[in-house]
Amino acid sequence: MTKFSFAAAAALGVVVVTLGCSNQTGQEVTGEEVAVLVAPPSVPPPITRNHATRVVVNLETEEHVGRLADGVQYTFWTFGGQVPGNFIRIREGDEVEFHLNNRPDSRMPHNIDLHAVTGPGGGAVSSFTPPGRSSVFSFKALNPGLYVYHCATAPVGMHIANGMYGLILVEPVGGLSPVDREYYVMQGEFYTRGAYGAGGLQPFSMEKAIAENPDYVLFNGAVGALTGDNSLQANVGETVRLFVGNGGPNLISSFHVIGEIFDRVNHEAGTAVTENVQTTLIPAGGATIVEFSLESPGTFLIVDHSIFRTFNKGALGMLAVEGPADSTIYSGRLLDEIYIPEGGAIQEIPQEQGPAPTAMTAQERVEAGSRVYSQNCAACHQPNGLGLANAFPPLAESDYLNANKNRAIDVLLNGLSEEIVVNGETYDGVMPLLRLSDDDIANVLTYVYATWGNSGAVVTAREVARRR
Ligand code: CU
Repeated sequence: MTKFSFAAAAALGVVVVTLGCSNQTGQEVTGEEVAVLVAPPSVPPPITRNHATRVVVNLETEEHVGRLADGVQYTFWTFGGQVPGNFIRIREGDEVEFHLNNRPDSRMPHNIDLHAVTGPGGGAVSSFTPPGRSSVFSFKALNPGLYVYHCATAPVGMHIANGMYGLILVEPVGGLSPVDREYYVMQGEFYTRGAYGAGGLQPFSMEKAIAENPDYVLFNGAVGALTGDNSLQANVGETVRLFVGNGGPNLISSFHVIGEIFDRVNHEAGTAVTENVQTTLIPAGGATIVEFSLESPGTFLIVDHSIFRTFNKGALGMLAVEGPADSTIYSGRLLDEIYIPEGGAIQEIPQEQGPAPTAMTAQERVEAGSRVYSQNCAACHQPNGLGLANAFPPLAESDYLNANKNRAIDVLLNGLSEEIVVNGETYDGVMPLLRLSDDDIANVLTYVYATWGNSGAVVTAREVARRR
């Protein structure tokens, strides 16, 4: 069954109008209800009524300072209090009475352009709303599909860049095919005065936005919004549908789930279904619907396959799948042996030379080190410091680290390419030479020692300089 289930609709005796022809759905509108709006990554439940109705949508615009990354704050402008905005779920043929309410404590006027609207500006002109005001307009949901909505108040790009986007789903007559789980993911970029990870309250950079050079490319508005404890959850044997939008404002997303194949994709969230897709493009201001079944347990990474965005700009989510493994579908590692055709030379990763060592308190080093960690270390050693089995040793409760501070400093100064034993497990990988400044090394080690049950040792830049 395709997503837009025309066959099922016809069986119910409902007149279905082919997309691209007249979209006057011709359905009688009966009753009225207030839309239940849901914050990401959840979505409202599927629509069960088999008729069009009048739907009242109350959406509030709200500005607030929130977490962009650990130690990094940003002034978000939102629909509903978070990025992306609340998910709206209606049905083809519904008549929507849309209330846009701008909170009295807002500093900016806002409006909304819903791509599901057929009319000038998608509702933008009708919904221009100063702080402390409410605007009402109505529209008829003529076309089924998944649509982006966004603020379109000047400067439009800035309102979008600050987080003012979300998704509205117009279910087709007959509904979507049933699945076990549905989630709401939306990509967007952030342009900050400081570089990725630079701490404090970061103002929006119009210069970087115009250059289309974001510091952050994120799912759901923050580094880690969909990782660790915030990971999406599912079980082996279940089917999952992701409603994925791209708020932009500039970049196209090469949306991919590592270790999964999309069984079905509503490409660009349109009606046509493409099967067996690895990576699907989502334009800025566009969306897609992907569905897949889960055959293997484990953590599946949700990425933009423009991959530096994932490992250096934050575009990383996780789907945690629990259940029994089937070794015929995926065996896990069968053999592990050394293969070094070019020798075990340490790779170098260039890094700009940082400022001269500074006097900092241990607490300041911990906070600064947390940012160094998320930028340089977390991709391998994981945000929770647990590492990855057989690949990257844990830093949490690490006997290797806690036994010898100078050895730890040397690893960061020189890289590491020899076999080591950490907490009883042997690791034979290569740790690249990162070329961090003395301060960054002192800070990140102090952070690691202060975290995850480690010794609490403090490392100073002077100690690092002495070992250099
Ligand atoms: Cu706005």
